[in-house]
Amino acid sequence: MAKAKQRDGIARRGLLAAVLIAVSVPAVQALAQEPAAVAAPAGADDARVANGRDLFSSWGCTSCHALADAKSSGDVGPRLDGGNLTEAFIVGRVTNGQGAMPGFGGQLTDREIADIAHYIVKVAKK
Ligand code: HEC
Repeated sequence: MAKAKQRDGIARRGLLAAVLIAVSVPAVQALAQEPAAVAAPAGADDARVANGRDLFSSWGCTSCHALADAKSSGDVGPRLDGGNLTEAFIVGRVTNGQGAMPGFGGQLTDREIADIAHYIVKVAKK
């Protein structure tokens, strides 16, 4: 009886250890993938705006869109200043395109598209 109890205790400790590992492994993976989401370092927002600004020019958004911050005056697509665009809306447009606007979903990463959207919302004149 005492032996059976001991085995039981060991089995239970083993189970507890397995549960602890199962819980902590994904948490560690999440930390490794998204350090910014856990503790945004000072200047992270500036870095996103700067990244968005670079991408906006290097991916040719300037040739179709006017945006004062980017010193662009393209007029194939709507002027991006003066609008009331949300980041979610811009992410959708840039990912999927619309009409004459090409989609960039397969070429830019989700993070890059999010940074472009963040940039536009930050700098667009109201
Ligand atoms: C070939 C020209 C062209 C390029 C390049 C282009 N766009 Fe567009 N864009 C358009 C056109 C045209 C529309 C309007 C689409 C519609 O509503 O039918 C548009 C719409 C948009 C809108 C929605 C604006 C609104 O007021 O509805 C956003 C935001 C946008 N583009 C951002 C971008 C970004 C960011 C890039 C670069 C990654 C980009 N575009 C590249 C032509 C372009």
